[in-house]
Amino acid sequence: MVDVILGLQWGDEGKGKIVDYFAPHYSIIARFQGGPNAGHTLYVNDKKIVLHQIPSGIFHESIVNLIGNGVVLDPVTLKKECATVAGFGVDVKKNLFISERTHLILPTHRALDKAAELSKGDGKIGSTLKGISPAYMDKTGRNGLRVGDLLHKSFISSYIKLRLKHQKLLDNYHFSEEISAWEEEFFEAVEFLKTLNIVNGEYFINEALNKGKKVLAEGAQGSMLDIDFGTFPFVTSSNTISAGVCSGLGVPPQKINEVIGISKAYCTRVGSGPFPTELMDGTGEQLRTTGSEFGATTGRPRRCGWIDLVALEFACMINGVTSLVMTKADVLDAFDELSMCTAYKTDGEITNQVPFQMTRNQIEPQYKIFKGWKQDSSFFKDVSELPEEMKAYINFINKTLGVPVGFISNGPGRDQIIKIPVL
Ligand code: GDP
Ligand code: IMO
Ligand code: MG
Repeated sequence: MVDVILGLQWGDEGKGKIVDYFAPHYSIIARFQGGPNAGHTLYVNDKKIVLHQIPSGIFHESIVNLIGNGVVLDPVTLKKECATVAGFGVDVKKNLFISERTHLILPTHRALDKAAELSKGDGKIGSTLKGISPAYMDKTGRNGLRVGDLLHKSFISSYIKLRLKHQKLLDNYHFSEEISAWEEEFFEAVEFLKTLNIVNGEYFINEALNKGKKVLAEGAQGSMLDIDFGTFPFVTSSNTISAGVCSGLGVPPQKINEVIGISKAYCTRVGSGPFPTELMDGTGEQLRTTGSEFGATTGRPRRCGWIDLVALEFACMINGVTSLVMTKADVLDAFDELSMCTAYKTDGEITNQVPFQMTRNQIEPQYKIFKGWKQDSSFFKDVSELPEEMKAYINFINKTLGVPVGFISNGPGRDQIIKIPVL
């Protein structure tokens, strides 16, 4: 069967750490969407590592890691990442596999991303500028080049044709970028990529499933950044939700088993777009400082606010979440009071539903106040140590979402995680 771990908010929920924690129960860890816009942090031997495209199971020797067809892959970032993990003794030639159907991010995709963002002015998305949107546009526009194409003689001529097309688009934007250094890096990285295990991902994964092997699909970004269900247009360009697993790996829906949703104990967002519970005051600043809320990919300060149960309930619904992991509980340790958004007020009406256009409606979050636990929770090892206030906080989430919080994470370390029995 395939289990899924994915983010329920606007990304950076701590997916990397949680995938690394659950990885030993699986034979294959697979990324099914997104690309180097992701930054998944994990700690190996107390050293911090941020992975962008390689799945977060790579540090477990016996686990196979697959980059699925739904991903958009930048060979340059991949080559750098492979060098980083090799420094930790990982042999990528042994346990990293890449689908031949995975689309490539070209240097001109990065230039186009920049040009599109600049042209939007104040309405910019806040893209990571990694070329994600132009690469997915070329996929759906049926122009893109795929990893399997690298192995054919016609690759260079197809590349030149596509670059020409991109050049015309860049001219339309009146945007110019010197990309010759990027291209040099790109072609070096392509040669490296050709030496890795390029496979037919859908047969690879289905054959493993037929042999009874367990697969964990690792989501990138978060449900509120989903191209269909997120806060459009301030979203990413892929289906980040559990449905994306089927099209992003080539597995049938009947094979999806557990869907583990990750949510912070509060909420963050990086980039532009609606964020109803955002705090622009000292409390938001305290969350940012205590939680070290700076982007793992771009270093940008993350916007911070209270947990939003309206958005979370929506995310649980569209993903079919079977259990939750609540991360960064320790970040709330010092607060006297904590707030949870339980409803939105919009156009004078109270609602528990996420509106069609969050950008058009003024949303006033309705809060329920909780007493803080005011203790250092980062040393807790067992549910019996949890203060009553923390239990009340977790129980309310369980009850409202109708999905159990199965684990809480109380620090960035590999061992800072506590199993919560079903209450
Ligand atoms: P991802 O993109 O979902 O994998 O998350 P990121 O790696 O972008 O951001 C999560 C950040 O929070 C990283 O710096 C993690 O090391 C850190 N982190 C994860 N879980 C916890 C936790 O329970 N407590 C604290 N304090 N930090 C955590
Ligand atoms: P992980 O996997 C947080 C955001 C960007 C921007 C929007 C579109 O680490 O959780 P894009 O580059 O995809 O065109 O940017 O999406 N974004 C993320 N925010 N975590 C991520 O990934 C993100 N990937 C993209 O900031 O607002
Ligand atoms: Mg991240």
